[in-house]
Amino acid sequence: MGILEWATSPLGQRVPIHIAWFLIWVALIAGLVFLVVHAIYIRYFAREQEFAPETSPAKIELPARIPRHSLAARLFHWIMAAAIFVLLFTAFLPKLGIKFNWVTYHWIAGTVLTASILFHVIHATFYLDFWSIWPDRFDLEDARKRLQRCLGKSTALPRKFGKYPLENKLYHGVVMLTGLAVILTGIFMMFRVRTIFFPRNPYLFSDMTWGMMYVLHGLAGVGLITLVIVHVYFAIRPEKLPITASMIVGSMSREFYLKEHDPARWAVHGLSSRGDTAND
Ligand code: HEM
Repeated sequence: MGILEWATSPLGQRVPIHIAWFLIWVALIAGLVFLVVHAIYIRYFAREQEFAPETSPAKIELPARIPRHSLAARLFHWIMAAAIFVLLFTAFLPKLGIKFNWVTYHWIAGTVLTASILFHVIHATFYLDFWSIWPDRFDLEDARKRLQRCLGKSTALPRKFGKYPLENKLYHGVVMLTGLAVILTGIFMMFRVRTIFFPRNPYLFSDMTWGMMYVLHGLAGVGLITLVIVHVYFAIRPEKLPITASMIVGSMSREFYLKEHDPARWAVHGLSSRGDTAND
């Protein structure tokens, strides 16, 4: 049993047509296994998080609520999330036997996702701190320290995080690549169905190229099943709830900010000239 389904083209060529749909179950199970293993690790084996003392001045006046996500950033997040859920359900429910006219809902949600990502790229590049989501030298140094401590070796304590811990930055990178793959292939696949944007043209590419495109779309799509499960799992873990709440209300408490974040690496607006500002 292969991971792709094949067919013979009118020219007699064997071409892939899409992924084998059992991969939906593989992705679901992979996500569930991850969260069970992680939950067991945190409950029974993980050590309490400890951080090195901050490098910033000890006495800084901070407001009771630290701004974290602007209204525009929050609206983007929830519109993108809704589009992804609609895309996942419309794509995979029919493959699991729940039949409905899914293609129209799917390309409409795909268009919403594409538009929201375009907005996000412009917003993040010109209005937010672009570099806050990419790993830096400190993240890598601290990841090494955290790994050594996890293996029971003695080493210096890691610094507190900037706006985003390394794990969030890596997750963002993987979701970005997977999301770009479904979006770019999805835009071309809209030529295979009837939409309001351009006339249908199934002859735009050869059967082999279309096949590869459907395969990439499907692989990235099932990948998103696992990624979404992992994301939702972290969002509802008790110790992460203040971060999740900040994606709704826009801010987090001063106590939580000071517990996990280094004001020198993620500074509240106007209080420091280094690092990102907490309004980003
Ligand atoms: C979470 C993101 C997405 C997932 C999980 C997903 C998944 C899928 C799956 C499994 C199929 C069926 C492909 C096949 O039969 O081989 C499909 C078809 C399709 N997707 Fe997506 N997709 C996503 C995002 C998008 C986006 C962003 C667009 C448009 C920009 C899009 C446009 C399409 C179109 C037009 C089809 C229909 C192709 C046809 O029936 O010939 N998809 N998608």
